Amino acid sequence: MDAYAKTKIFYISIGVWLILGVVSYSGWSKHVLTILTGGSVTIPCHYDKKCTQQKKYWFSEIDESNTYTNKTEENLSVIDHPDQSLFTVTMRNLQDKHNGHYYCVVETGEQSPINIIYETQLKIQSAPDVSVVSSNVSGHEGGDISVKCLYSSGYQNKLKQWCRYKDQSCYTVGRNDTSQNSSVQISDDDGGRSFTVLMTGLRLTDSGWYFCSAGEALSPVHLTVTENNNNNTTEVTGNPQKYYICIV
Ligand SMILES: *[C@@H]1O[C@H](CO)[C@@H](O)[C@H](O)[C@H]1NC(C)=O
Ligand SMILES: *[C@@H]1O[C@H](CO)[C@@H](O)[C@H](O)[C@H]1NC(C)=O
Ligand SMILES: *[C@@H]1O[C@H](CO)[C@@H](O)[C@H](O)[C@H]1NC(C)=O
Ligand SMILES: *[C@@H]1O[C@H](CO)[C@@H](O)[C@H](O)[C@H]1NC(C)=O
Ligand SMILES: *[C@@H]1O[C@H](CO)[C@@H](O)[C@H](O)[C@H]1NC(C)=O
Ligand SMILES: *[C@@H]1O[C@H](CO)[C@@H](O)[C@H](O)[C@H]1NC(C)=O
Ligand SMILES: *[C@@H]1O[C@H](CO)[C@@H](O)[C@H](O)[C@H]1NC(C)=O
Repeated sequence: MDAYAKTKIFYISIGVWLILGVVSYSGWSKHVLTILTGGSVTIPCHYDKKCTQQKKYWFSEIDESNTYTNKTEENLSVIDHPDQSLFTVTMRNLQDKHNGHYYCVVETGEQSPINIIYETQLKIQSAPDVSVVSSNVSGHEGGDISVKCLYSSGYQNKLKQWCRYKDQSCYTVGRNDTSQNSSVQISDDDGGRSFTVLMTGLRLTDSGWYFCSAGEALSPVHLTVTENNNNNTTEVTGNPQKYYICIV
């Protein structure tokens, strides 16, 4: 199903907005999160800094429910982090019935009442197509971290990447070109069931949400870079961030 078709279903499920023709859509590429049965996942939804004040929610196509930010239930938390211009969605105890499409939505204003900032499909599997050994890693400024990404045998020949959610910048296994930063090394492991991402010379601005992917399947990872105790830190500037426009 292509992005347009999915969007259309979303329009239909919120038919009023469809009739008004007032949904804006940021056109993400297809993201399929593969999660172990009974497991949990945290998904970041990055929004424009200008949308800090707007209401945000997580929409489930399965039961057509909206869960607004700062709500915590037994198996679902949707928490806003205005300082980082993102809200996170944590789903726990995932079962087959949770398979389906989900959307991060910002209520933007009267002209364009809702803006879909991210959409994803969850696939609950007894052996996830893509997973990570640890989904929450931390390192010190100037130090290194490594992340091991596992994939199922059917994904051996798929494109394997390590990407940052915020600006969708990616590093690709086996690609050797100047656009890839030497501070990130990404290599396929022996046996063809995993690849390893090594980030060296960590900067505070490297903190945030990333994902490992093989083909369209992916698994999110949170990286925390902590400040060193010595004061000899050099000021660095982050990469330009690509955001959708918040119409208010
Ligand atoms: C949370 O998930 C568990 C396991 O599937 C289930 O037994 C429980 O009823 C769920 N809680 C809620 C509030 O849905
Ligand atoms: C939600 O919680 C965060 C802190 O976790 C807070 O900064 C933010 O203002 C809260 N938002 C709302 C709408 O209550
Ligand atoms: C990651 O781990 C740190 C402490 O080790 C914790 O404070 C933080 O909440 C965790 N984050 C997530 C997204 O699990
Ligand atoms: C990348 O390509 C350059 C020149 O083509 C080569 O010298 C270098 O060893 C290559 N690096 C890797 C990691 O393959
Ligand atoms: C690569 O990383 C260095 C610092 O680690 C940074 O200064 C540089 O801008 C980065 N280059 C690209 C293309 O991201
Ligand atoms: C290092 O930072 C601490 C706290 O920020 C400050 O009190 C101290 O004076 C700083 N030392 C130097 C050498 O700048
Ligand atoms: C920190 O900066 C001071 C003064 O600039 C310098 O003397 C010292 O060697 C530096 N320490 C480290 C660990 O770089």
